[in-house]
Amino acid sequence: MTLTEEISEDKILLEYNVGEAQILIVEREGKGYYIVKEPQIFGEAKELYDMLTGYLYRNLKPIFIEKDPIGYIESVLEEIAEELGIKSKYEEYYDVLHYYIVRDVVGYGKIDVLMKDPRVEEIAVEGPGIPVAVVHRDISEFYWLDTNIYFTNEEELRSFIQKLALKTGKHISTAYPILEARLPEGHRVALTLSKEVSGRGSSFVIRKFPNSPLTITHLLMLKTLSPLEAAYLWLIVEAQGLVFIIGAMATGKTSLLQSLATLIPPDARVITVEDTPELRLPHTHWDPLYTRRSYVPGDSWINIDLNDLVKFAWRRRAEYIIIGEVRGEEVQVLVQAAASGHGGLTTFHADNVESMILRLTSPPLNVKQSFLSLIWSIVVMRKLRIATTGRVVRRLTDIYEIVVNGDRVEKIKIFSWDPKTDTHRPDDVDEVLERSYRLKVIAERYGLSESDICRELKERQGFLEKLVEDEAFDYEVVSERLFKFYYQRRGIM
Ligand SMILES: Nc1ncnc2c1ncn2[C@@H]1O[C@H](COP(=O)(O)OP(=O)(O)OP(=O)(O)O)[C@@H](O)[C@H]1O
Ligand SMILES: [Mg+2]
Repeated sequence: MTLTEEISEDKILLEYNVGEAQILIVEREGKGYYIVKEPQIFGEAKELYDMLTGYLYRNLKPIFIEKDPIGYIESVLEEIAEELGIKSKYEEYYDVLHYYIVRDVVGYGKIDVLMKDPRVEEIAVEGPGIPVAVVHRDISEFYWLDTNIYFTNEEELRSFIQKLALKTGKHISTAYPILEARLPEGHRVALTLSKEVSGRGSSFVIRKFPNSPLTITHLLMLKTLSPLEAAYLWLIVEAQGLVFIIGAMATGKTSLLQSLATLIPPDARVITVEDTPELRLPHTHWDPLYTRRSYVPGDSWINIDLNDLVKFAWRRRAEYIIIGEVRGEEVQVLVQAAASGHGGLTTFHADNVESMILRLTSPPLNVKQSFLSLIWSIVVMRKLRIATTGRVVRRLTDIYEIVVNGDRVEKIKIFSWDPKTDTHRPDDVDEVLERSYRLKVIAERYGLSESDICRELKERQGFLEKLVEDEAFDYEVVSERLFKFYYQRRGIM
């Protein structure tokens, strides 16, 4: 399929530039495509490119130790062209040569434009000959868009995977053909090599790390949750309740976790525990811990997993422990930490509360049923298509509280999302207080009346609405406004 041709017949949804490349997002016969048009290189220029890169690869010291790799390449290219006696030709084709050499030697080669495009959130390919696909931030009609970029054969893809692995500083080989790691820019990669474990050949999935994290203001503007829901969660977080954010893959759990963590009082000591760094906190006393894994069989490095780190975190004094994603027995430590008065936030892979409870209480997680009452609120995230508009969106669809009575686990629905109107309910403070068991616990604990709690909810709701009104999206700005909010009023808790 040659997508770059016959574009005139397609419906162009979006058109913009990323550096020198032009991006076209088109709809053809109901399917979405992401088309990259780069400068063309052929004939004499291509021959020069092959000569120069061949020489570079043979003689270059590792690029990644250079502070300014592009400047370094530029100076080296001058010399090489001189040495090879092709200086005038090099100057003639300078623009296109420079574009491709920087793209392929310093950048991410064929997918460099996708890596540079801030609107691309995810990039994936399942094997050679299959179009590289992307998830685009501003195109919500389609899940994945096919691009016009292909890896022609297994060899090319395989060497690309090796290059990605090298950039992460980790190792992938036929002996251990899977790798989950992080690129220098923070992007998460999950790689496979050859057909050892992946049916269609070498493959990669890249989840890009946003330049700046999504803030609560973004989520409110996107209608992922309502200001009142955010105000409710804020109070729960401030009172050091334990909150679980659940949902399927890529439903926006970590982004919500990130936004909620920013709401933690500025003076608190907050420990985050993650496999791969995704969270960024503005708190002075933020203490991030990351697991360490060795991929080389027989390596003498000792793995430090989430469970080790959460236990360790518990011993380091902190008001809050946040686990990026709970998967195993570390959840027990988190729950125990909550029992001893720590605030806690985490995400968990589960589609609904029932399956979450079942998995939590079965091996290997083994949380005792009576301990479930330590979980204050469960937030359900979904990625879904809105029937009326056809748009794919992320929504916080429910917030529950858990109450355990003997062996009965009761879930109380505090908020829910209505797909018909795309609204979150209830939107009335009194009704929230009436439904919520935890808000009443907070009132009792801090000697507050019900009207105090209502006032708090309203004040925070108003504050958050003002953030949206002021278009305060930026992470730094939001953090600063939140800190001011805390410092300018007398705390109630
Ligand atoms: N509310 C939202 N609206 C639109 N896009 C969002 C929203 N939340 C997150 N995203 C985008 O969706 C992608 C996945 O988000 P995120 O990492 O938060 O999901 P997740 O549920 O934690 O995924 P995983 O299951 O892989 O851990 C990211 O690219 C993020 O920028
Ligand atoms: Mg996540």
